[in-house]
Amino acid sequence: MTNFTFLPEPYRIKMVEPIHLLPPQERVEALRRAGYNPFSLRSSEVYIDLLTDSGTGAMSDRQWAALMMGDESYAGSSSFYQLESTAQELFGYQYIIPAHQGRGAEQVLFPQFIKPGQDVIGNMHFDTTMAHISLAGGIPVNLVHERAYDTQLEHPFKGDTDLDQLRSYIVKRGAENIAFCIITITCNSAGGQPVSMANIKAVSEICQEYGVLCFMDAARFAENAYFIKKREAGYAHQSIKSIIREMFSYTQAFTLSAKKDGLVNIGGLIGIKDNREWYEHTRSVLVPLEGFPTYGGMAGRDMAALAVGLQEVVTDEYLEARVYQIEYLATRLQAGGVPFQSPVGGHAVFLDAKKILPHIPFHQYPAQALCNEIYLEGGIRPVEIGSFLLGRDATGVQLESPLELVRLTIPRRVYTISHLEYVAAICTKVMQRASDIKGIKITYEPPVLRHFTARLEPLS
Ligand code: F0G
Repeated sequence: MTNFTFLPEPYRIKMVEPIHLLPPQERVEALRRAGYNPFSLRSSEVYIDLLTDSGTGAMSDRQWAALMMGDESYAGSSSFYQLESTAQELFGYQYIIPAHQGRGAEQVLFPQFIKPGQDVIGNMHFDTTMAHISLAGGIPVNLVHERAYDTQLEHPFKGDTDLDQLRSYIVKRGAENIAFCIITITCNSAGGQPVSMANIKAVSEICQEYGVLCFMDAARFAENAYFIKKREAGYAHQSIKSIIREMFSYTQAFTLSAKKDGLVNIGGLIGIKDNREWYEHTRSVLVPLEGFPTYGGMAGRDMAALAVGLQEVVTDEYLEARVYQIEYLATRLQAGGVPFQSPVGGHAVFLDAKKILPHIPFHQYPAQALCNEIYLEGGIRPVEIGSFLLGRDATGVQLESPLELVRLTIPRRVYTISHLEYVAAICTKVMQRASDIKGIKITYEPPVLRHFTARLEPLS
């Protein structure tokens, strides 16, 4: 991560969106009004918004031009056929089905394969993936290698599934009790960590050996391919496109949130490699849930912009600059003594709140407290990924997350290196007064997905 040369963004700015930093006292009031939950802040109260990289990217001039050419026909939209052929070519899958976003794809695909009581195994499921597995009566099981939980351990592919555990789990549980395996690339919940080609292949082979289906949650497929090219032996001279083709050749279906590497603000896809029966069934389920098979919840213009986004995201120039921004921020944080999940992944830097605030126990939500301090210090909005997000068990007892992370998520093509310099400076300032930061308690929480709407209060 050290010793890299300065790489300016490979774009220039054609249109600007002003952003403002509220004065300190107004930030205090805004956070109080928001119940000490940054999700409840208004975007106008935020200076630099690092809540998510999902749907927050900037489209290119070519995408905006494509938008104007969108075909809004209910059936048979030419924008769909552009998207379909682009995705077929990119992923090497015969069947492409649109959905309004990633979770739309999940709600259509998953229930077809899950019988109540069956497990869905994978490296580490994202929250909505877990929710849709549970809604279909399944049980989500994470089998990521334990090194993902050690934020200071250097390893090129901390998103890899633990192969020994995978095999023994299938044997112990019985293949008939496993609906499918889903590999999440990159592994968002473990810090945006990539999965190696060798691991994707091995997981696929183990699944095949025991007759378990193997799918992909492909939201950040291009970033994952870039890490394979950079970090895995034998791929340095392969094109991103051929790496993507190989990755997807090992799985039989995928769900994809296009709001990340699709470089669009809304959209999603289901891909089915070659199973005509699955395709026919998925299309019929799609109609009542998402929409007719040639739009699936997307406007024609959104499909047109996505077809262009899928071509732009697979260029070396784009991916190099994208990952460089994350690494740049990491280097500056390291210089300020701020610990984070290392090496960094492709879409965010995950600060290690357990290390920054060792005096705050998990049930006082150290990562949430840190998010709030970062907002107060500099108007930056990060997101908590820790015990506050994890929630409670069936008896109401707070669960302890193995990691307490603060995600500084970088939207695509939105901020420049100077914004990231500012972010690092603010986090460093917070780090310097870390021992004075107090824990936080919940004053209101809804029964499910509480982190979006819960209200909290700092402990005195
Ligand atoms: N899978 C992964 C790995 C994701 O990161 C997300 C969304 C989804 C599925 C669901 O896709 O939002 O289009 O419905 N992640 C966002 C985030 C929300 O902030 O990490 P969606």
